[in-house]
Amino acid sequence: MAISHLPKIPTIDVDEDEENLISKELIHCCPKEKGWRTSFLYKFQGFWCQPKEIQAIISFQKHFRARNSDVILATIPKSGTTWIKALTFAIMNRKNFPISNENHPLLRSNPHDLVPFLEYKLYANNQNPNLSNIPEPRIFGTHVPYGSLQESIMGSDCRVVYICRNPFDTFISSWHYCSKLRSESQPPFPLEEAFKMYCKGVIGFGPFWEHMLGYWKESLERPKNVLFMKYEDMKEDAISQLKMLANFLGVPFSIEEEEEGLVEEIMKLCSFENLKDLEVNKIGKSIKNFDNKYLFRKGEIGDWVNYLSPSMVEQLSKIMEENFGDSGLKFKVFPSVS
Ligand code: A3P
Repeated sequence: MAISHLPKIPTIDVDEDEENLISKELIHCCPKEKGWRTSFLYKFQGFWCQPKEIQAIISFQKHFRARNSDVILATIPKSGTTWIKALTFAIMNRKNFPISNENHPLLRSNPHDLVPFLEYKLYANNQNPNLSNIPEPRIFGTHVPYGSLQESIMGSDCRVVYICRNPFDTFISSWHYCSKLRSESQPPFPLEEAFKMYCKGVIGFGPFWEHMLGYWKESLERPKNVLFMKYEDMKEDAISQLKMLANFLGVPFSIEEEEEGLVEEIMKLCSFENLKDLEVNKIGKSIKNFDNKYLFRKGEIGDWVNYLSPSMVEQLSKIMEENFGDSGLKFKVFPSVS
């Protein structure tokens, strides 16, 4: 749902479907595997994605130019993208849109409409949008792995926020979401089949370990530009995480704001319970025309325990150990896995 007081993003179609042709040719050379929801996923630039995403990523890599004031919110799907978009929008726009205002954009628009995805919205369908009229600071979302971001993002002073969720819950959340989005003609998606694919790394924008490690390593090397957050830390202590996020974004909360309880207000506005019950999130559609309601399921840590067998837990734990090893990236997996 568009909102009138935010700038509209004009789009320009790229001549001759140039990117489309490139992606069609490319697809023939890409390794492919059965997809979760679509027929196939293709391995492009080292990660798995759909043909439409390849076209959009090529357009994004070719045309996007970062500004120092830009904020890029990056995630692998089902890690808390909707949440971090809501929080960042609320924090950065708190002067223009006071949190207590009953007309706050987040009460009337889904976070994905306020913080557009580079690859699903802006550069999808051969669009080459003119982003220069968006007032700074611009906030964008992406699932693209770090190494495939447009070069100007790495080369500028813009800020990248990554939110990471433990792979157990991310897997279960992905499986539920894909099950909901499969067309009626498709049979139900067996959990075991999805699990095998996940463990092989075959999931949108995966392998998940490479996606997470790419941003993790960059956050260690360039902490002023890349902030690595964890879904579990946000659930456990949202207030200190929000303060850390605001500091990183260059808009720290003042003492007065803290005393007035603004941090708590933002936390409440963006909470799972609040967003889930809003009309726009019950009946609206945002990403690729998918129902917003599917973006809000349980919002808990540890729901995987209701789905994964002991041998699945063992297998995924082993994959995590092998891949995260001594990287320093650790997860709080509740209930804990021994
Ligand atoms: P579950 O399926 O485990 O419930 P994404 O936004 O990246 O698509 O991630 C979706 C997951 O985040 C879902 O997890 C969803 O319920 C949860 N989620 C959505 N909004 C949230 C919020 N405001 N706070 C916490 N979790 C949220």
